[in-house]
Amino acid sequence: MVTNSDSEGRVSRVERGDTGVDWDAEAVTFDDEPDHGLRDPEVRRAWAERLEDWLPVRASDVLDLGCGTGSLALLAAERGHRVTGVDLSPAMVDRARAKLAGRAAVFLVGDAAAPPVGEERFDVVLVRHVLWALPDPARALRRWCGLLRPGGRLVLVEGVWGTVDPASIPVERLTGLLAPLVEDVRVERLSDDARLWGREVADERYAVVARPASR
Ligand SMILES: C[S@@+](CC[C@H](N)C(=O)[O-])C[C@H]1O[C@@H](n2cnc3c(N)ncnc32)[C@H](O)[C@@H]1O
Repeated sequence: MVTNSDSEGRVSRVERGDTGVDWDAEAVTFDDEPDHGLRDPEVRRAWAERLEDWLPVRASDVLDLGCGTGSLALLAAERGHRVTGVDLSPAMVDRARAKLAGRAAVFLVGDAAAPPVGEERFDVVLVRHVLWALPDPARALRRWCGLLRPGGRLVLVEGVWGTVDPASIPVERLTGLLAPLVEDVRVERLSDDARLWGREVADERYAVVARPASR
């Protein structure tokens, strides 16, 4: 396993399963960020266009892990996809359920690293800004590949936010973790598209679309 241990071998809080973030508390104002709530029509359109490109054209089963308040899940449902969302935070799940009321979507409280979906399999595993918060990203990626139907894909949106947080995932680390698991990887740099964030950003933000090696 790749670790974020420091020079003295101390393992980071994230790898102990503690990001220090109270996600239930965060849920109250989570959608205030432009790229979270997607309330600005231009930001919303920017994410809708990306998702249209990343998701299959035909109506598909999408598993949105660490779904938060369900903003991406809603965009996927609006394109005709059936969504299952999973989040550890009941307050996030409550908001996602309200946001997608009446849509082909179900939301479960559970761990993204071991989603409570039984034997169900999906065409897409969609994960935005969550992998960095998991204690063992390599194990989660293996698990997620196993949740895909043949021909399915991972859509991962991650980044390195700021300079002090060692928990972020640089693209080289993520593609390195994926290398033994997938045969087709596409990386899209997202930092230079200010429409996605509602402002200019200087840090590293990217998406990876990957298909597991045939089983
Ligand atoms: C930065 S937010 C991203 C939310 C959403 N994916 C989005 O892009 O709007 C991180 C989310 O991951 C959830 N989360 C953190 N650790 C988790 C875990 N182990 N299992 C499931 N969800 C988790 C948090 O509750 C929060 O909703």
